[in-house]
Amino acid sequence: MRLAHLFAATLAASMGVSVTPSLGAETVNIYSARHYDSDDLLYDGFEAATGIEVNVIEADAPALIARLNAEGANSPADVFLTVDAGSLWLAEKEDLFQPVTTPTLSTHIPASLRNPDDLWYGFSTRVRLIFVNPDKVDPALVQKYESLADPRLRGQICMRTSSQVYNLSLMGAMIERLGAAGAQQWANGVVANFAREPQGNDTSLILSVAAGECGVTIANHYYYIRLQRSANPQEMAATERVRPIFPDQDGVGTHVNISGAGVLVHAPHKDNAIRFLEYLASAQAQRIFVSASDEFPALETVALPASLLALGTFKRDPVNVSVYGKNQSEAQMIFDRAGWN
Ligand SMILES: [Fe+2]
Repeated sequence: MRLAHLFAATLAASMGVSVTPSLGAETVNIYSARHYDSDDLLYDGFEAATGIEVNVIEADAPALIARLNAEGANSPADVFLTVDAGSLWLAEKEDLFQPVTTPTLSTHIPASLRNPDDLWYGFSTRVRLIFVNPDKVDPALVQKYESLADPRLRGQICMRTSSQVYNLSLMGAMIERLGAAGAQQWANGVVANFAREPQGNDTSLILSVAAGECGVTIANHYYYIRLQRSANPQEMAATERVRPIFPDQDGVGTHVNISGAGVLVHAPHKDNAIRFLEYLASAQAQRIFVSASDEFPALETVALPASLLALGTFKRDPVNVSVYGKNQSEAQMIFDRAGWN
């Protein structure tokens, strides 16, 4: 059902015509940069709960933002859904969102996980962990993000490219913690410790550390969980050769990011869009986020599945995730000056 909607919409778009929702039916049109099959469960749950039909167009965040800008006031899109507060900020700075405040959203979503002007909300969280191969690097040396600049880690660090939004947001957080000069010093130190030029993605970097190609990397927690239950026995075994570390437990806490969404400024179905956001904040949808994509729920009363409980309890950086966007251009300049490609 959903695929049919998706293809119809994509086909229409490729022909240069706008998406026409089925006559008479209540609909909500979502532009999503989340790439998780599990999101279909969320859409199904919303349709079952409300009778509102969900249409989805999926692409990466910059492509969807460009499309929203091109469509302008004629856009059929009601909601923009994406991973990373830094990507929500890209849409925010193009004035693509309208503020939405409801009692459900205000009560269910902690203030640190939403835009201060209620332009977007985080519905799940992910944490960026340090992964270490204990045969190569003493885990005691890498208990903080700042430690990755320690000269004792020369030739040990593998990283993704700096333009990747997860790293831009982490640097945004480091700017908040250390100031721009401190963050620059940190970036310079990390680059000096690189085992190789930045490459790969979170999954391949965890595997590189497991294989001993480098001793340390940074990756989001759910990639580790997915490897732990991989159908490929070698990937599963690799997770036993790396140790996840929750950084900064003695400091401000581990860097937190979100998956989030906001209602678009030209939403043709604004009421349905608000109901969709409220659904994402509901206990039912929060359980789907948790069980199907290995993210942490934004709603703190939702029980965690075994895979997340196994990671243990930890302290989170309480900073409002909106600062990552605010600091994003400075973050990129710091990376560039450090030579972090
Ligand atoms: Fe991801």
